[in-house]
Amino acid sequence: MTPTLPTRIAVGGAGERLYEVVVGRGLLDEVAPLLGSALRVALVHPAALAQGAAWLAERLTAAGLRVTTVEIPDGEDAKQLSVAATVWDRLGAEGFTRTDACVAYGGGATTDLAGFVAATWLRGVPVVHVPTTVLGMVDAAVGGKTGIDTAAGKNLVGAFHPPAGVVCDLDLLATLPQPEYASGLAEVVKAGFVDDPEILELVEADPAAVLRSESPVTRELVERAVRFKARVVSADLREAGLREILNYGHTLGHAVEAAEGYRWRHGEAVAVGMVFAAELGHLVAGLDRATVERHRAVLSSVGLPVRYDGTSTWETLLGLMRVDKKARGDQLRFVVLDALGSPRTVDGPDPAALAAAYAKVTT
Ligand SMILES: NC(=O)c1ccc[n+]([C@@H]2O[C@H](COP(=O)([O-])OP(=O)(O)OC[C@H]3O[C@@H](n4cnc5c(N)ncnc54)[C@H](O)[C@@H]3O)[C@@H](O)[C@H]2O)c1
Ligand SMILES: [Zn+2]
Repeated sequence: MTPTLPTRIAVGGAGERLYEVVVGRGLLDEVAPLLGSALRVALVHPAALAQGAAWLAERLTAAGLRVTTVEIPDGEDAKQLSVAATVWDRLGAEGFTRTDACVAYGGGATTDLAGFVAATWLRGVPVVHVPTTVLGMVDAAVGGKTGIDTAAGKNLVGAFHPPAGVVCDLDLLATLPQPEYASGLAEVVKAGFVDDPEILELVEADPAAVLRSESPVTRELVERAVRFKARVVSADLREAGLREILNYGHTLGHAVEAAEGYRWRHGEAVAVGMVFAAELGHLVAGLDRATVERHRAVLSSVGLPVRYDGTSTWETLLGLMRVDKKARGDQLRFVVLDALGSPRTVDGPDPAALAAAYAKVTT
């Protein structure tokens, strides 16, 4: 079989630097060319992915770069100021200058942390993201948002720092545990409802294939979801408005994550949040019932939850939604659909409609 060429999706516009998201298989040799004139790279990765990072380090070395590998804690534990400080110290000890660069190898937590370090070291050195999760590929690594968590909440400190490039090597997903894989698919399905219904048709045609990283459909889905995010962030690089549609399902989703002490995966909470947003869209924006039910069918076909069976009350979740950083003042704001692929925001919807939509995700 002849290897297929990678797909290159451009991000940027309106005077901001363009970068490419490269999607395909067997792409580790795509990383070095994206590093431009860098002489040395700090390859940041979680301990759990040391083997894959070592293979990437070998390829970078073969391309003539000097590689310093920097191990960080796994998952969300990486997104702490103390971890950023440890990486800054390593860069300082190694004498990293503006002609050097970072490479992030891991899930969204790794790309967020390494992106933040790259944004701040010498006020900004280039970073190339090599996401290893579905969520990282279709969401976290694309768009230039980087950040860490603080005691007051997630992602409250950060910077916009567009990467020099993103390499989505689908072969890296082979070791991703199934629940992490499914969680990332929630963002893919989101792109389907908000913008690209062909995604939904692909999932409906063979949900079992969608859950296997080696399926050809995986590449098609990742490419479509990356294109969606690339289109949105290219039109709205600094979060002036359009980016809000990326938040579909996230208002309740974030509240569920917080209420459950972050024991639910992001995509699981967002899946329930999307069903809620669909029900709300039906009540306040005339979204048809068939599309509402399609949310339940598509999400559950890939193993994602469509109801909230946790212990928090509606009042608790409402309170959490009010303090979400995306809320404006006291006014709750939701992204809803008035039709498939047609998102809009509603400000301060009728509390009775909110409660009715919520009732539909708890029964
Ligand atoms: N910057 C943004 O725009 C943006 C957007 C969405 C999400 N995020 C952030 O992304 C983070 C979540 O990302 P995530 O879901 O990728 O989680 P993650 O980075 O925490 O990774 C999830 C788990 O999977 C493991 N893992 C990763 N790749 C693997 C692989 N190929 N094989 C085996 N195990 C693997 C990780 O070690 C970790 O334990 C959150 O911190 C969120 O805030 C950022
Ligand atoms: Zn999300």
